[in-house]
Amino acid sequence: MFENASTRRSFLRHSSIAGAALFTPFTFAQQKLEEKEKGEKEKGENDEKISPAEDLMREHGVLNRILLIYDEHLRMLHEKKPFDGSVLVSAADVVRRFVEDYHEKLEEDFLFPRFRKAGKLVKLVDTLQIQHKAGRDLTARIRELAGTASLKYVSSDTDKLTDALRSFLRMYRPHEAREDTVLFPAFRSIVSDHEYDSLGEDFEKKEDQLFGDEGFFKVVDQVAQLEKRLGIYDLAQFTPK
Ligand SMILES: [Fe+2]
Ligand SMILES: [Fe+2]
Repeated sequence: MFENASTRRSFLRHSSIAGAALFTPFTFAQQKLEEKEKGEKEKGENDEKISPAEDLMREHGVLNRILLIYDEHLRMLHEKKPFDGSVLVSAADVVRRFVEDYHEKLEEDFLFPRFRKAGKLVKLVDTLQIQHKAGRDLTARIRELAGTASLKYVSSDTDKLTDALRSFLRMYRPHEAREDTVLFPAFRSIVSDHEYDSLGEDFEKKEDQLFGDEGFFKVVDQVAQLEKRLGIYDLAQFTPK
């Protein structure tokens, strides 16, 4: 009769309000219990500890959304469509503050030295570190080029910007995919359970210090605002018709 438990609960709740005959002490107590459980669950979800790998991977999710913003700008550049550079400036600022100064710093301070000490994946770690540096140079270029003009496709700067965006996308997609599938899974095996857990807490604390309480969600919201300005926020538009 009911598609799922929440539909059933919703029916019970509404029917208990609608009909006095159904509003028995049992349904009232059940309703209170469900509300309490829901509140505790929501609280628990917010306070939930997340592992270092999950933390780093969801940060890659933010980076991926920036890459989509960069993709959209490449499309406009290709179509010679004038655009306001301020969205790109803001996106590059999120890359600088969140991806480079925070996420990559965590990788460089907490992961890379442990891999080097353990003598594992050292060549990969060296490449990743070189790419972080190359990424910073590209971000500086993107930031500067996006900030200097309203990009009406009149100057050679637009070609330079196209090159910088392409290079950034070309490097970061394989970079983060390799970290997600090789580096982060291997990290679990080179640290103790205790160290792994406490690093997760350290990462969260650092995130909140830099970006405020529940800082990750604030950054996600900033990126969503940029997507809205570009018209790429609505996910359903990407479903094939
Ligand atoms: Fe990285
Ligand atoms: Fe990363």
